[in-house]
Amino acid sequence: MPKPYIAVNEVRLVNGPESFRRFEIIGPKMCMATANHGGFVGFQNHFPIGVFPMGGRYGGAKLDMRESLNPLPVRQYTFWKDWRDHDQMHVDNFDTIFRLCSGCLDLMIDGPWEPIYEIVSHDLPENIGLTDVPAKLGAAFMAGQAVPSVALPYGQRVVATSDHTIIPGREQDFETAIEQLMQAFKEAPGFLGYMVLRQMGVSAIGSLQLKPAALHQALQTTGDYPPRIKEGNFATPEGKATPAQYVVHMEWADMNTAVMGISRVVINTRFRALHDPVLDTLLKGPYIQLWSPQMEDTSWRQYLHA
Ligand SMILES: [Fe+2]
Repeated sequence: MPKPYIAVNEVRLVNGPESFRRFEIIGPKMCMATANHGGFVGFQNHFPIGVFPMGGRYGGAKLDMRESLNPLPVRQYTFWKDWRDHDQMHVDNFDTIFRLCSGCLDLMIDGPWEPIYEIVSHDLPENIGLTDVPAKLGAAFMAGQAVPSVALPYGQRVVATSDHTIIPGREQDFETAIEQLMQAFKEAPGFLGYMVLRQMGVSAIGSLQLKPAALHQALQTTGDYPPRIKEGNFATPEGKATPAQYVVHMEWADMNTAVMGISRVVINTRFRALHDPVLDTLLKGPYIQLWSPQMEDTSWRQYLHA
């Protein structure tokens, strides 16, 4: 089975109870509209926890900024058999999505912006509940397979995303070095797994980056009258970032294991030697944000592993 593409819809919202209330009302409706398309294989939405202060380089950042971070970035992953399925879903459900989106515009500071990523490499366990542990782990053991990590769903683990921009021509060096580092992280307590994501474009329609006439129509309504022109201003591959952009998506059991594990790249000589070849390819980064995955349909991992 080909690896799924990931559309990452990014918005920045006012940090307040109304944003969370609206997210709970509109989020499920958006998920249901998205599931109208057969190419949709799952989703994983993230609320921010904080920012890795990188030994003080980002000294104003704190690991837990849930109260203070404002605006509040929200990253919503949707997984697709093909990136074209994602764009087609936006065309097919344009009016519904526009109306739902408009229900949050008064809380939005920035966005939506929806880059599309290819999964370069991955090693993520499937999510299980604590009550599934004996059956799942026992079955793997009995089958002579490696016993997987216990990755809990729905807000019970921590995601760390690390943004990297690569010096042109060094992309393969980056991919090789980051893969070696991720394999080494398997030794670190609480490391659940990872995906290395390479940006391959931007969905114009998912970003509401519409043709000029459609943009005017969108601005002249509060949401009840969606634009008649339902067309993005560019084709998804035209949004491919140059220099290349990658996101390293890591999952950890909790905050402490994430922080102490990732810190190995500066406080442990062996991990440092593995990570320095990554740093050597960087034009910008790394910038590490910590997230709590919420409102997820974890079955996309079965598609990933099929
Ligand atoms: Fe989208």
